[in-house]
Amino acid sequence: MLKIDLEHKTALVCGASKGIGKACAFALAQAGASVTLLARNAIALEEIIHQLPKSKTQHHQALVADMSDPDDLHRKIEVFVKNHPIHILLNNTGGPSPGPIVTADRNHFENAFRQHLICNHILAINLIPGMKEAEYGRIINIISTSVKQPIENLGVSNTIRAAVANWAKTLSTELAPFQITVNNILPGATQTERLDAIIDKEVLIHQLSHEEVTEKMLATIPMKRFAQPGEIATAVAFLASPLASYITGINLPVDGGRTKSL
Ligand SMILES: NC(=O)c1ccc[n+]([C@@H]2O[C@H](COP(=O)([O-])OP(=O)(O)OC[C@H]3O[C@@H](n4cnc5c(N)ncnc54)[C@H](OP(=O)(O)O)[C@@H]3O)[C@@H](O)[C@H]2O)c1
Repeated sequence: MLKIDLEHKTALVCGASKGIGKACAFALAQAGASVTLLARNAIALEEIIHQLPKSKTQHHQALVADMSDPDDLHRKIEVFVKNHPIHILLNNTGGPSPGPIVTADRNHFENAFRQHLICNHILAINLIPGMKEAEYGRIINIISTSVKQPIENLGVSNTIRAAVANWAKTLSTELAPFQITVNNILPGATQTERLDAIIDKEVLIHQLSHEEVTEKMLATIPMKRFAQPGEIATAVAFLASPLASYITGINLPVDGGRTKSL
């Protein structure tokens, strides 16, 4: 039987305290991986550790870190990786504040660059030697469909996703000879707190009701519904598995058909 099997694999899942990251932690644990959950909210992470599926071969733990502080993250991951080799890295964190690009100031761009690109790079660079030694490596980045089609009122996010996508593509070429894959998942509108924040912002900008904004968004999605976080997580689990051994350097939209280009 063809099965996503991650037994004896270890995963570091960032942004794991809620939303898409949390769903990915569950999917990877369900497939047999030992999962390290990274986010700022230590209490939420501890609760999730106790809820994750677990067999005799699995051990789940937390790494509390702030991805808006690359120096702190660097110190923590350097220490962590000495005793915890990781096969699967899921780069994921909170999205930049929504809003038109003309209202974004320099700090918004610099913070987003640090939190998304620099932190992804710090994590990857620290984990790659262990992946090479283990002869197994998967780097998966949660970005956005805005890589293919910029989204209205997500100015800073549109900008930073393109940078992460090109960073990942470059990395995928350099790591391919080691059979380490690097891929991007591009979620469409997914039912999480982030989506609620985007809808709230649209309500303010367009002076519409919550229901009107929701209807407007759903009208752009051929499947006429938002994604559930678990639907993004299933794609992550597949790319993390040995089944996806020859897939690298791709952008995979999981968006109910919303993106208008291939
Ligand atoms: N939901 C969507 O419709 C959608 C669509 C396309 C792309 N995306 C992108 O996918 C990613 C995840 O989205 P989501 O909807 O799951 O968001 P979410 O529900 O807001 O969850 C964000 C996660 O990131 C963590 N996080 C935020 N800031 C952090 C920091 N400074 N350091 C460490 N961890 C931090 C949060 O944990 P703590 O607060 O505990 O740190 C949380 O676990 C975001 O980049 C988002 O923009 C989302």
